[in-house]
This record gives sequence, C-alpha cells and structure tokens, in this order.
Amino acid sequence: MIIKSIDIHNFRNYSHLNLNLDKNINIIYGNNGQGKTNILESIYVLAFTKSHRSYIDNNLIKNNEPSAVLKGTILNEFSYNLEIVLNKTNKKVKVDNKNVEKLSSYINKMNVIIFSSEDLDLIKGNPSLRRKYINLELSQLSINYYNALNDFTKLLKIRNEYLKKIFDKEVVDLNYFSILTDYFVNKSVFIYQMRNKFVQKLNNICPEIYESISKLKGFNIKYKPSIKLEKFDKDYIKEKLTNALSENFEKEVKLKTTIYGPHRDDFEFCLEDNNLKDFGSQGQQKMAVLTLKLSEIEIFKDYKKTSPIILLDDVFSDLDNNKKNNLLKHIDNNMQIIITTTDLDSVDPRILEKAKLIKINNGQIVEEEV
Ligand SMILES: Nc1ncnc2c1ncn2[C@@H]1O[C@H](COP(=O)(O)OP(=O)(O)OP(=O)(O)O)[C@@H](O)[C@H]1O
Ligand SMILES: [Mg+2]
Repeated sequence: MIIKSIDIHNFRNYSHLNLNLDKNINIIYGNNGQGKTNILESIYVLAFTKSHRSYIDNNLIKNNEPSAVLKGTILNEFSYNLEIVLNKTNKKVKVDNKNVEKLSSYINKMNVIIFSSEDLDLIKGNPSLRRKYINLELSQLSINYYNALNDFTKLLKIRNEYLKKIFDKEVVDLNYFSILTDYFVNKSVFIYQMRNKFVQKLNNICPEIYESISKLKGFNIKYKPSIKLEKFDKDYIKEKLTNALSENFEKEVKLKTTIYGPHRDDFEFCLEDNNLKDFGSQGQQKMAVLTLKLSEIEIFKDYKKTSPIILLDDVFSDLDNNKKNNLLKHIDNNMQIIITTTDLDSVDPRILEKAKLIKINNGQIVEEEV
C-alpha cells in the first residue's frame, strides 16, 4: 500500500501543502521546527483519525483557523481517496467523497507504522501507553477487535457508573449488575485472546530481529493480564475473570471502579526474564522498540497481504551506522517509506540516491535546483 499524494489545509503550521510522494523512499528534510514531523503526523492522522503525539485534536488545527482538512490518495489494489475534516468540536471522515458514519469502516483503509521519538515511552512509560499501542495495532489488523474494544469501553464505563451508584446507596438492581458483568466478561475474553495471539505472533519474529540488530539473544515480550491466566481458552478465562470480579465485589464498590479486566493489562519487553524497563540501557530499549515495529511490518504483510506505509521520524540521526544498516535490511525495497531528517548526511548514500527529496522551510516546500 502507498500514499500517492497528500493535500494539507490549515493543519499545524501548514496553510496549504500538496505533496506527491514516491512509491519507495521519500526524505523530508529541513531545519528544526519547520514542519517535517507535521507532515508525518498528517499522514498518521489521515490513517487513524487521531495523532500519535497529541491527545488534543484542536492542537492539530492551524492557529486562528476554524478547521483543518487532510486529503490523501491511497493506492492498494485500487486507488481511493481518504479525507478527514477536523473542526474544533468534531471530525468527519470521507472515502471517495462520501461521508463515512462509522469510524470502524474507515480506520482500516490505510495502514501506517510510525517510528518516532515518542516510541521510547512505550517501554519506559506507564501501562496505559502499552495498551493504547496494542489496541491500535490490533484495530488495524482486525475490525472485530476494534468493535469489541469499543463495546468493552462502553460496558466498562456503565459498570463503573453502576458501582458508584451502589457505593452511593442509590437504588440498585443486582440482577442488572450481574447481566452487565456477564457482558463485560464476554467482551474481555475476546480481547484477552486476541492480545495473547498477537503477542505470540510477535514472539515468533522478535527474537531473531532483536538479535540481528543488537547481537543479543533472548528478547521476548511478555503479556501480563491483570488476572493470572495459565491458558487462554474461552471458558477458562471466563471463569477466572467472573470469579475475580465476584470475589472482589466489595472492594470494587469501595473503589467505585472495575479492578480486573483488559483495561488493567500490561506487557513487558524482556531479555530472557529481565524487564528492559528496569535494567535495559537506553540503546537496548530503543532497539526493542525498533524490533517491535519491524516485527509488526511482518505481521501486517502476513495478515493484509500488503505492506504498510512506513514513517520514520528522525530515527537515523542517533543510530550508529551498523544499526542503521541493520534497520534498513529489514525494511524491504518494495515498501513506501517516508523519512524526516535535519541532516541529509546522516542518511545512507545508497538510500539517498534512490530517494525523492523534499525540502521544507516554514511550512512550505522549497523548490531547489539539483
Ligand atoms: N496548531 C498549530 N498552528 C500553527 N503552528 C503550529 C501548530 N502546531 C505546531 N505548530 C508549529 O509547527 C512547528 C513544528 O513543526 P514540526 O514538529 O513538524 O517541526 P520539525 O520540522 O519536525 O522540527 P524538528 O526537526 O525539531 O523535529 C513549530 O514551529 C510549531 O510552532
Ligand atoms: Mg520533528
């Protein structure tokens, strides 16, 4: 899959930009603060309808403007147009100029994997970031996961509100609560199973990639559900979670929240049994993130029978040559890659030679004589 062009209106520091992209390698370069990352972010937003670096959609709209519009032409088996309009209070998405009401029918249309400086937070940050990440990846791969997660999130909210009502001694129907819990458990089971399967798939690929870029053996990802699960059979998980919830009912009421379920899961990135979060060097952590993303590319290709669009935000500048080469070995020639850098000298000449170069200055493309 490739993005042939993107048209950006009032997004971040861009008033208007129309950019045609090469089907292979594109390098966006320029000084700090000129708008390189903003272009990658616009592609990411077009794919996911939200940003990888800001929770607040309004920050994406150019200052003093009412709305931002992003349009992209995607080529997969067929060519189609995606569009997102961001207003201060809502967003709308379109496919081939037709409004799409359900985000679930949109979110799968464009597959993107980004490598950026925020990624290190995946290892160092709190569990919610790791859950967000795995949710995003699985949602891209499976519409069923995306829908189950939405249902789960709604059920969790209702369940928590009900726990609060029980705490406040408002009228309570325990029968209703038990049905609610049952629905909650069923959605949870599916999410646990999908997450486990995804981590297993990653673990089939990860150790080899990690070893090839770091020369270290034993890399693995451990899935840590909030209840201890020995296996991932449906009935078994169902029983475990139902029991955990009923045994802790009073505690839940006291805390006014659901304390077991996929919303409390975590993942660990380990060398053998050592969690890189606690003992890994900065470089080892960084390589773990690279490994994760490279493995994802493989999983994507396998599931979707097409390559995702790869966005590399400034990842070359602080990798040594060896790692750069190893990284590039894993990104094959047929993928579309969009790279940002302040320094063209940091890019391998073999890449440079093949790439389309795009110079950005203050939210505009600079036409240069070559
Ligand atoms: N909503 C907005 N409206 C206008 N300008 C914005 C908005 N959000 C961010 N900017 C501007 O965008 C610029 C940053 O762009 P970006 O992050 O793409 O820079 P960059 O070229 O990637 O820089 P670096 O090399 O430092 O990573 C800043 O000058 C910032 O003020
Ligand atoms: Mg940047």
